[in-house]
Amino acid sequence: MSAEVHIIRHPLVQHKLTLMRRAETSTAKFRALLKEISMLLAYEVTRDLPVKREKIRTPLAIMEAPVLAPNKKLVVVSIMRAGQGILDGILELIPSARVGHIGLYRDPRTLAVIEYYCKVPHDIVDRDVLVVDPMIATGSTAIAAVNRLKQVGPRSIRFVCLLAASEGIQQFHSQHADVPLYTAAVDEYLDDNGYIVPGLGDAGDRLFGTS
Ligand code: URA
Repeated sequence: MSAEVHIIRHPLVQHKLTLMRRAETSTAKFRALLKEISMLLAYEVTRDLPVKREKIRTPLAIMEAPVLAPNKKLVVVSIMRAGQGILDGILELIPSARVGHIGLYRDPRTLAVIEYYCKVPHDIVDRDVLVVDPMIATGSTAIAAVNRLKQVGPRSIRFVCLLAASEGIQQFHSQHADVPLYTAAVDEYLDDNGYIVPGLGDAGDRLFGTS
C-alpha cells in the first residue's frame, strides 16, 4: 500500500505557518494562528466527505441542494495537550464533530510511550476519525495514538498535523501505511532533544505560554 502524505501548500496556510515559526510571535497570536490554519487544514482533509441532495426552499424557488450525507458525524481525536489547538480550529468549522482525547507521555528512563488517558465516543466503530497533533517529530506518539485507536477500530483514520519531520513521517508510515497524513510542511531534521528543525519550538508551550 502506498502511504499518502498530503502537504497543504495553500499560500494562506504557508503564510500563517511562517508567522507561527517566528520566535517573537506572542502566545495569543500563536493560538489564533493555529486555530485559523487548522480550519484551512480541515477544509482540505474533508474535501471528499460524501454529500446528498436535499429539497429546500429558497426565497425564490424549490431546489435540490447538497448537504453533508447523514453518515455518523466525524470524530476528532486530540493528542494531549497540543492537539487542543488544532481541535479548536476544526470544531469552529465542523461544530457537530464528536471529540476524543488521548494522553501520552514518554517515560524518560525507557523512552517508551505511556498512555495516561483515553476517552473516545462509544460508537467510534461507525465513525471516521481525524487524529490531531501539531507536530510529528520522531513519530512515536503518533504511532502509539493510532495503535490505540485501531484497537477500538473506527471506520477510517486520517492524521492531521501542522509540521512533520521527514524521519517521523517514515516511522509513522512504516507502522501505519494505511493512515493518510496531512501537514502544512515537512522540515529537515530533528535535533538531539527530538525537536523539529527549523520547526517552531515546543508547540504545547507556545500554545499555552508555559515555556
Ligand atoms: N514537539 C514539539 O512541540 N516540537 C517539536 O519540535 C517536536 C515535538
